[in-house]
Amino acid sequence: MTVKYLVTGGAGFIGSHVVELMLRRGHSVVVLDNFSTGKRDNLDQVRRAVGTGELLVVEGSITRAADVARAAGGCRGIVHLAALPSVVRSVEEPLESHDHNVTGTVTVLDRARRDGIKVVYAGSSSAYGDQDAPYKREDMREMPLSPYAASKLAGELYCRSFARVYGLPIVVTRFFNVFGPRQTPDSPYSGVVAAFCFAFLRGKPPRIDGDGSQSRDFTYVSDVARGVLLALETPTTGCETVNLACAGNHTINDLLSILRGHAGSNLQPIHAPPRTGDVMHSRADISRIETLLGFAPEVSFAEGLRLTFDWYRRTYR
Ligand SMILES: NC(=O)c1ccc[n+]([C@@H]2O[C@H](COP(=O)([O-])OP(=O)(O)OC[C@H]3O[C@@H](n4cnc5c(N)ncnc54)[C@H](O)[C@@H]3O)[C@@H](O)[C@H]2O)c1
Repeated sequence: MTVKYLVTGGAGFIGSHVVELMLRRGHSVVVLDNFSTGKRDNLDQVRRAVGTGELLVVEGSITRAADVARAAGGCRGIVHLAALPSVVRSVEEPLESHDHNVTGTVTVLDRARRDGIKVVYAGSSSAYGDQDAPYKREDMREMPLSPYAASKLAGELYCRSFARVYGLPIVVTRFFNVFGPRQTPDSPYSGVVAAFCFAFLRGKPPRIDGDGSQSRDFTYVSDVARGVLLALETPTTGCETVNLACAGNHTINDLLSILRGHAGSNLQPIHAPPRTGDVMHSRADISRIETLLGFAPEVSFAEGLRLTFDWYRRTYR
């Protein structure tokens, strides 16, 4: 059955993959985006890849109730991804992060409760902070280390309260280091996989913050898009919080050596001091999302890196 969904931040990296999957499944999609970090070209790529499908783009901000109302009209559910997704930027401009990530989220939730529609909220592994546990479980105490982490967690708390007060079904999907095609590679706030691919393709030494022994649960973006849609379409009640990840752990040094192989490069990295607010190790326990939604990751780290590097090579050669 064709259903209309709203994707906030749909012109961004993850958003464009969620939009693509929805269109491939025959749904119609409204994107609300202010194009602060998202790109029109991401949606053009989606249109070219899918060929058909009903995609409406509303340029506006999640912080303005009128923009959200205009975009949400007739939608049966919201995937709320719009945010300023950078630890570094939040340290420089914490009020700006608060405005987009918290006020924006409350504005989206308020629309959802007025329209009585389900929300999937993009939570973040940054909620866990740097706790001494091999796997991050959803029932662990949150310990945000940066204004970004605090703002994303504040969004989660609003999700819980809206579910309780208004009976709204909400799923918080906590993402862990998502990577893949269309991630911005050339901004000071770029994710590490995109930044390394870009550096190798430009023949510049990749920059490692710290000694590279920090580890991450890298998750390929198509798995994230699939998990988000499962969260939206599986009947749930109240506010459920799930890790959406692979349960793997790979160091930044591992990542560098695999990408160096793909690039056929001998470039050595330059090292910078560890970043303020960064965590050392981040690995998800994914048993809850397996049980609640039947989710299992499909793309391995190695395969995801191969697909990603090939995409950057084609796009930025
Ligand atoms: N990429 C990751 O590894 C990761 C990890 C954890 C959580 N997340 C969360 O996933 C979501 C998507 O992240 P991404 O990596 O695709 O980032 P992105 O920057 O590519 O996408 C964010 C999108 O939101 C839009 N946006 C920002 N402020 C807006 C506003 N006020 N109104 C309307 N649109 C606005 C941007 O233009 C952009 O299109 C974010 O909520 C982020 O916090 C991402």
